Parts: sequence; C-alpha cells; structure tokens
Amino acid sequence: MSQSLLIITGHSQGIGRAVLDYYLAQENFQILAISRTKIEVESPNLKQFCIDLSELDVLENHLINIFPEGDFKKIILLNNAGWIGDIKPIGKLGPKELRVQINVNLLGPMYLTNAFINQYKNSSAEKIVCNISSGAASKPVSGWAGYCSTKAALSMFTMVAAKENESDKFHFFSLAPGIVDTGMQDEIRASNDSDFPELKKFKEFKEEGKLSSPQEVAKKIAYLFDRPALFKEVIQDVRKF
Ligand SMILES: NC(=O)c1ccc[n+]([C@@H]2O[C@H](COP(=O)([O-])OP(=O)(O)OC[C@H]3O[C@@H](n4cnc5c(N)ncnc54)[C@H](OP(=O)(O)O)[C@@H]3O)[C@@H](O)[C@H]2O)c1
Repeated sequence: MSQSLLIITGHSQGIGRAVLDYYLAQENFQILAISRTKIEVESPNLKQFCIDLSELDVLENHLINIFPEGDFKKIILLNNAGWIGDIKPIGKLGPKELRVQINVNLLGPMYLTNAFINQYKNSSAEKIVCNISSGAASKPVSGWAGYCSTKAALSMFTMVAAKENESDKFHFFSLAPGIVDTGMQDEIRASNDSDFPELKKFKEFKEEGKLSSPQEVAKKIAYLFDRPALFKEVIQDVRKF
C-alpha cells in the first residue's frame, strides 16, 4: 500500500501541467489525467484520457475507467480544468459558449466528484477532492458572469460534499490559486475593454510581475495535499498559506 493515486483534469498546460510535473517526479504516485490534448510525456505512472469535458455524455461513458480499484495510500481528485468563457456582458453572451462553460467548469467536476465518492467512499485510503476555484467565486466581475457563477456553484457543491462526508479520512477543498501566469490570463488580456472594464488592471498585473508561476502554485497545492488535516475549512486560497 505504498502507491497513491492522483486524478487530475486540465493537465495539458498551466496550473494542471505544473501539478502533473510535480507528481510525475514523485515515484509513488499513479496519475490519471484528463484534457482534450495529449501531452508528449511517457511515464509508466501516467495514463492520459483525451476527453472534452464539455461533452458530458462522453465523460459519463468514461467514468467507469477513470476511477480504478486498488489498495492506495492516498487518493486525490483535482478538478482543475476550467475556462474563463466568453468575456462579455450579460446580454451579449452566446448560449453555446455558456453551455460549454457550465459543462467544463461545473457539471464536469460535479460528475467526477460524484463518481469519486461513489467509488471510494468506503476505501480506507486518505481521500482528497480539490476543486479549483477563484476569487471570482465570491466577487462579481463584469464580463465574467459565466465564470463567476460556475465557480460559485462549484464551491457550494464542494461544501455540500464535505458536509455529507465528514470524516478525518475524507477532505474537500475549494481552492483559489491566486492570479497565475497561464493561458487563461493570456485570454483575459486578449479581451476587449468595452466588454471587460478591468482589462487595464489585468494587463498591469502582468507588466508589473504580479502573477505567480504555475510551479509556485503547484507546490502550494502539493503542500495542501501532504497535510490536508491541517486545513479545516473547505474554502482555501493559496495566498493564505
Ligand atoms: N490563471 C489564473 O490566474 C487563475 C485564477 C483563478 C483560477 N484559475 C483556475 O485554475 C484552473 C486552471 O487554469 P489555468 O490558469 O491553468 O488555465 P489554462 O492554462 O487555460 O489551462 C486550462 C486547462 O483546462 C483544460 N481544459 C479546458 N477546457 C477543457 C475541456 N473542454 N475539456 C477538457 N479539458 C479542458 C485545458 O486542456 P485542453 O485545452 O488540452 O483541453 C488546460 O489543460 C482553472 O479552473 C481556472 O479557472 C486560474
């Protein structure tokens, strides 16, 4: 029982890629990773699933393969994949983009959390579900209606899951990663200032070197996963530890 298991979404770039690299370097972790893009990394410890999380029927059909049985020491689900969405005010939003965003940011993580609990509820392993959140879960941002709403809903879902599964072997976190230098921030800076009033502020974050690196955030996430019992609250923010 020396092996642990990490199931991670959005491993192909950004924060997810940094977390993946961190855990690939730990030889005692088996990793199941889900993104649309397969990355060029070969490791006996890594199994990749090319799944578009906006296609919920496809995800549902794969659930049976994503959560293996086994005698693991620790089992972690990191719902990290996310999309900032169509950066536009309500009234200009595309229905298709909204649907994709809700599937990727909310329903996909809900399906995966549900299947994880169903599969591992009675396992003697230490279990962690960490859903990546955002400051936008608790603060309205003009132009980010879909993003704020899906992150807020996922946080509440995580709190309900924690309440239903109170145990010192089961930990649930809704974790804000701070402002991180990834493709998501590139997308934010490429938006239009008439649709996104805070554009200038986000350009200045980058110019002034205020973004943290995905690697720094990955180390914080690993710190949390190493000692989950120290973190009593579901809502967490990497800038606070
Ligand atoms: N960067 C920040 O400042 C920041 C701040 C707060 C919260 N966050 C959150 O942190 C998490 C990671 O974001 P990031 O900044 O690392 O973003 P990123 O660089 O854009 O990476 C997003 C990841 O999600 C995956 N993904 C996106 N759409 C997908 C889909 N339809 N199906 C499957 N996978 C999909 C992407 O993989 P493929 O494209 O290969 O599918 C990619 O690996 C997100 O939940 C985000 O909301 C980020």
